[in-house]
Amino acid sequence: MMRVRDFIRQRPRRLRATQSIRRLVAETNLTTDRLILPLFVDEGQGEPSEIESLPGHMRWAPEQMAKPAREAAEAGIPAVLVFGVPAVKDEVGSQAYNPKGVVQRAVAEIKREVPDLIVITDVCLCQYTSHGHCGVVSEAGEILNDPTLELISKTALSQAQAGADIVAPSGMMDATVRAIREVLDESGFQQTAIMAYSAKYASAFYGPFREAADSAPQFGDRRSYQLDPRNAREALREIALDVAEGADIVMVKPALAYLDVIRRASMSVNVPLAAYNVSGEYAMVKAAVAKGLMDERLGVLEILTAIRRAGADMIITYHAKDVAKWLAG
Ligand code: PBG
Repeated sequence: MMRVRDFIRQRPRRLRATQSIRRLVAETNLTTDRLILPLFVDEGQGEPSEIESLPGHMRWAPEQMAKPAREAAEAGIPAVLVFGVPAVKDEVGSQAYNPKGVVQRAVAEIKREVPDLIVITDVCLCQYTSHGHCGVVSEAGEILNDPTLELISKTALSQAQAGADIVAPSGMMDATVRAIREVLDESGFQQTAIMAYSAKYASAFYGPFREAADSAPQFGDRRSYQLDPRNAREALREIALDVAEGADIVMVKPALAYLDVIRRASMSVNVPLAAYNVSGEYAMVKAAVAKGLMDERLGVLEILTAIRRAGADMIITYHAKDVAKWLAG
């Protein structure tokens, strides 16, 4: 006994002994202020219906969007991210930039009813194109970059005109941020911010979302535009390009399998960094909880805290409402 006491000089457990001291020394805080809730708006929707692949989430009709928006605001969540499911699709995704399109109507409704809630809109073509790709497709089946930029800019502008506070391009086309910034500025939307999905990986974790948004590619995959999971430096290059092109906020997506990328990104840029805790990550937790394999509250708080610890300033997550409730309680 004596010998043990003699040589133990460092006792890190002192700072873990009580709840109070643990609060005092915590290096990372998870608060509701940092959460963004995704919402799905479906043009063909009558009454809201639950999305099977995303338990706890609904598809709403555009006119009903005030309800989930108000619930988010009342829970203390500062922002929502709106995804649209149009009634019709075509080769060039024209419903994405229809001024009376599903997202544009939803945004107008939310901003009228819950004006203080920050509305972020996903800017992409994949939900709107018959082929399910995020860009214009050539005869040969290639995803064409530059012709896509024009459609993406039109989409972002129409969403800004509807009242979006932040537009979030997620298609991974080169020079997207620059193209959108130019159109917004020319049209008087200097105050509309851009949250760029800068480092979006070609991931297996988007499955439940593609079911929810009906946006799975009808041929091939997205590897000619989304990032290769083997690469991290490439993500930093994409992020640097987007910052140079005028992105206000940059994003890494998915989150859990890319905590190293989040860490490196947070150290290499001085704009706010978002992380997207994607649909597949949510579905894995829900499946484990349904099987009795994990405590949902503890598991989710641990995951989101880890994403914050890695360096994300804000987190887009399907758990947002539950987390807000837990953190308030
Ligand atoms: C559209 C888009 C996707 C997600 C967000 N925007 C799907 C994709 O790239 O196929 C995925 C979100 C999630 O899985 O939660 N490009």
